[in-house]
Amino acid sequence: MDKINATNAGTFKFDDDFIVNRLGYGTMQLTGKGVWGPYKDPAQAVELIKSAFDLGVNFIDTADSYGPWNADSYLAKALKEYSDSDKIFISDKVGQVRTGENEWVPVGTPAFLRQEVELSLRMFNRDHEDLLFLHRIDSHIPIEDQIGELKKMQDEGKIKHIGISQVSLDELKAAQKIAKIDAVENMYNVGHHKDDDAIVDYAEKNHMAFLPWFPLDTGNLVQANSPLNDIAKKYNASPAQIALAWLLKRSDNIIPIPGTSSVDHLKDNLSAANVKLSDEDFEKLSDLQK
Ligand SMILES: NC(=O)c1ccc[n+]([C@@H]2O[C@H](COP(=O)([O-])OP(=O)(O)OC[C@H]3O[C@@H](n4cnc5c(N)ncnc54)[C@H](OP(=O)(O)O)[C@@H]3O)[C@@H](O)[C@H]2O)c1
Repeated sequence: MDKINATNAGTFKFDDDFIVNRLGYGTMQLTGKGVWGPYKDPAQAVELIKSAFDLGVNFIDTADSYGPWNADSYLAKALKEYSDSDKIFISDKVGQVRTGENEWVPVGTPAFLRQEVELSLRMFNRDHEDLLFLHRIDSHIPIEDQIGELKKMQDEGKIKHIGISQVSLDELKAAQKIAKIDAVENMYNVGHHKDDDAIVDYAEKNHMAFLPWFPLDTGNLVQANSPLNDIAKKYNASPAQIALAWLLKRSDNIIPIPGTSSVDHLKDNLSAANVKLSDEDFEKLSDLQK
């Protein structure tokens, strides 16, 4: 087996057709400052995504709101240039409008959610979304209308699996009354996990994938003074690998989706699959957040 390969992380089974490797990739870094506008070198962004495919990554988390549309356009090009693109599982998100750098506005009007799905399918040249998240619940619109529209599109064959992002356990349970929810995507990492430990456990019990966004705490866990440095030295690993190894050990339903614009960091992150934390070190790391 190759030393650096997402397959080393094990798999998560969405259904009989789709089994994904448990180390994915998130496209959000492939934009301009404040997740706004194009990445500085679009051709490099496309190559980076293709490198991820070559290294066994078959789970890509993305959203039309990254740019908007910039990250998706690089993903679409990478898929077009990749011979096995039908084996790539796209985890997509709808329900957020962008108005400027670091500005995000939830918009859950059913017609708008539908338009986003239709435009994304055109962008990726596909007839269905593998996994489609409601990126944020729009508090101005009943959740029944938002998840209900995704359910309608699922019944029409346009969405295979439905997910929901940045929710409380109560919101997740409310969504489950409207449609089958197969995945949750919340902020979660070794430095910030206590708020959502119960959701991870609930998702695991109900066979839902859990995507921890900011798995590296958007870079804070990999700084020179990282709180993970001591344990990283012990395992001859990088702090990024320790942060990801903790997520992989935390629960079998977790699929980390670290974002990077660097092939070296991509390889570093995928090597996390080779780091096997002891139970004792796992507990020590879990206690970092008091
Ligand atoms: N559902 C949601 O609401 C939501 C919200 C936020 C994000 N997300 C998803 O989650 C994904 C991950 O989040 P993220 O990319 O914002 O944060 P992240 O994965 O926690 O961290 C990314 C940062 O870490 C750096 N980095 C990555 N690997 C590294 C390594 N091995 N060594 C040193 N530095 C490293 C990156 O810089 P370099 O480019 O220099 O590597 C970047 O600055 C996103 O891409 C997106 O798909 C979802």
